[in-house]
Amino acid sequence: MALPTAPGTRVVCPGSFDPVTNGHLDVIGRAAALFGGVIVAVGANTSKRDGLFGIDERVEMLVEACRSWDNVEVDTFTGLLVDYCTAREAAGVVKGLRFAKDFDYELPMAHLNRQMSGLETIFLPSSQQWGSVSSSLVREIAVLGGDITPFVPEALAARVTARARQRAEG
Ligand code: PNS
Repeated sequence: MALPTAPGTRVVCPGSFDPVTNGHLDVIGRAAALFGGVIVAVGANTSKRDGLFGIDERVEMLVEACRSWDNVEVDTFTGLLVDYCTAREAAGVVKGLRFAKDFDYELPMAHLNRQMSGLETIFLPSSQQWGSVSSSLVREIAVLGGDITPFVPEALAARVTARARQRAEG
């Protein structure tokens, strides 16, 4: 059965995306099928300071990874997510949930974003295949010399591995 969609509605998928993983792409692709447009918005998470890639590089990699969806654009934002969503006339935010810890982290933000501006958050359960994949574990595997090709888009694996090795060599 086809899912009901909201073709005129634009949503934002925000995140750090350092780097984008197949789990992120699963959520972005499913949002693109449900809504008219998706803005993938790269924001700085103030609690994560030791990034592997700069914001411009993350955008570059997302553009490459999202090129097959013609209703997905990649952008950056600073400041409050609610202000960005208002400026971009987005109807809501789509976030993937892998497990209870994600829910505990996301729910307060969803509550406060809605209290601040009425912004809705739509949670999509991650696909089982990607339910344990995170950017932080991908970074760790790559820095320690492991194979990340199962977890990130094929076209980006070599770039992520090279940066991680560079970082590991100091
Ligand atoms: O991928 P991440 O690290 O979970 O992404 C977190 C991000 C950047 C989406 C989140 O930190 C965010 O929304 N930051 C914007 C600042 C903001 O609006 N803070 C108030 C939240 S109630």
